[in-house]
Amino acid sequence: MFLVFPYMEPRRLWKRWVIDTRLDNCWTTVLMLLTLRLFLRQSQRFGAIMSKKSYRADAGQSSTSTSTSRSSFSSINITFLGTASAQPSSTRNHSSLALHLGRDVWLFDCGEATQHQIQKSGVKMGKIEKIFITHTHGDHIFGLIPLLASCMNGAGGTAEGVDDPRTEVNMEEKPLEIYGPLGTRAYVRNGISLTHTLLGSPYVVHELRSVSDPQHGDFTSLGHLPFELPSGRNIPQVDGVWTDIFKDDIVSVSAAPIHHSIPCLGFVVTEAPVPGRIDPKKYIPDIKRTNTPMTVMRRLQQGESVQLSDGTVIHGPPRRRGRKVAILGDTFDPSPIIPLALDADLLVHEATNAHLPGADPATKDSDTYETVEARAKSRGHSTPQMAGTFAKRIRARSLVLNHFSPRYPGGDTEEAIGIMRVIADLATKEYGKKVRCAKDLMTIEVKFEDRVLP
Ligand SMILES: *[C@@H]1O[C@H](CO)[C@@H](O)[C@H](O)[C@H]1NC(C)=O
Ligand SMILES: [Zn+2]
Ligand SMILES: [Zn+2]
Repeated sequence: MFLVFPYMEPRRLWKRWVIDTRLDNCWTTVLMLLTLRLFLRQSQRFGAIMSKKSYRADAGQSSTSTSTSRSSFSSINITFLGTASAQPSSTRNHSSLALHLGRDVWLFDCGEATQHQIQKSGVKMGKIEKIFITHTHGDHIFGLIPLLASCMNGAGGTAEGVDDPRTEVNMEEKPLEIYGPLGTRAYVRNGISLTHTLLGSPYVVHELRSVSDPQHGDFTSLGHLPFELPSGRNIPQVDGVWTDIFKDDIVSVSAAPIHHSIPCLGFVVTEAPVPGRIDPKKYIPDIKRTNTPMTVMRRLQQGESVQLSDGTVIHGPPRRRGRKVAILGDTFDPSPIIPLALDADLLVHEATNAHLPGADPATKDSDTYETVEARAKSRGHSTPQMAGTFAKRIRARSLVLNHFSPRYPGGDTEEAIGIMRVIADLATKEYGKKVRCAKDLMTIEVKFEDRVLP
């Protein structure tokens, strides 16, 4: 029975194997599975409460698989929380998106009302581990301090006396990590301090310092707050980019400056190579003949070669390229990120302004595509055509547009759908593939493309 299950996380594979080989009574198996499901559900719920402590249970570091680290995410999804530029409207809120890596959540930008949008979406606040800020324009950062307060059990200045658990900081907890350009740390520290916000757990801010930035110091004269870890790094720009600002066994993040009206970043999240698809049937005769324990399957699945007792060497399937997501902040020219973003499975690119004669009643007679593009660029923004051209240039496998002018409503009205279709088509003309326009609370999956590593 176990053999018909192709790829599975090692942890699950192992459980399945134990169940299938040790228990031959069918009913016991059913009962066991039900108990297991219940147990997993309960532990997930518990995990949501104890989120900080259950860090990366999904990453295979649970008690059942201490020896194997997980090597890919069960899924990668993005939920757009806000897709507006300038003012939020009745159909779009300010910029923020949640990247779901398996069960972990990383937030990119945190405009006003991000926490409300999180509550309305399927994103679990307690699962947010990292927050990446592309730039310090208010529509990308105004929601950060209230989100921290909610996330970290914070209280306003109203909590009195040491009896209130919120006045105690549990420094043992894993800190919430924030990454952003120069000024992010000062903004958060001053904002928290001036609003007398108390946090129940620690945070840390890592800044990506460009070559023209001061390389040391906090950029504020205000000292650390009790809940801010002093270990925040000032990460220097090397060869124009910031490589691996975060990296573990399964995922890494790099960043590059992109051109906007103020310093702005684009981030590239890259999954480490993932195991190939295993066909257990291929290995069974050898494994049976040599009485090798089935657990060898786990190693094969990781792409290892294994020598059996009779000298035969069997090879696991080659690893495949992991998924890559490029998430850009506001920009009129993101070319410095090209080396990092090449072949991204998904590109998220802004398209603030568009020339939509016929579709947009506010189009002026004097407007041409050229004047609209020039105006967009002068304000640091892009048109759908510019986004499409860039997606083609980096050979992106898919493109989603966001950060729309308040002139272009989101939502499901006929008008909104019509305008968004025109915008998407303009990008498609340059890109050559289907383009999607983001709506608030829309979730998309970053698909995995089978590409064997060279
Ligand atoms: C934007 O956020 C506000 C505040 O939570 C909410 O009332 C509004 O419905 C949101 N808009 C959208 C389009 O989700
Ligand atoms: Zn913006
Ligand atoms: Zn901006």
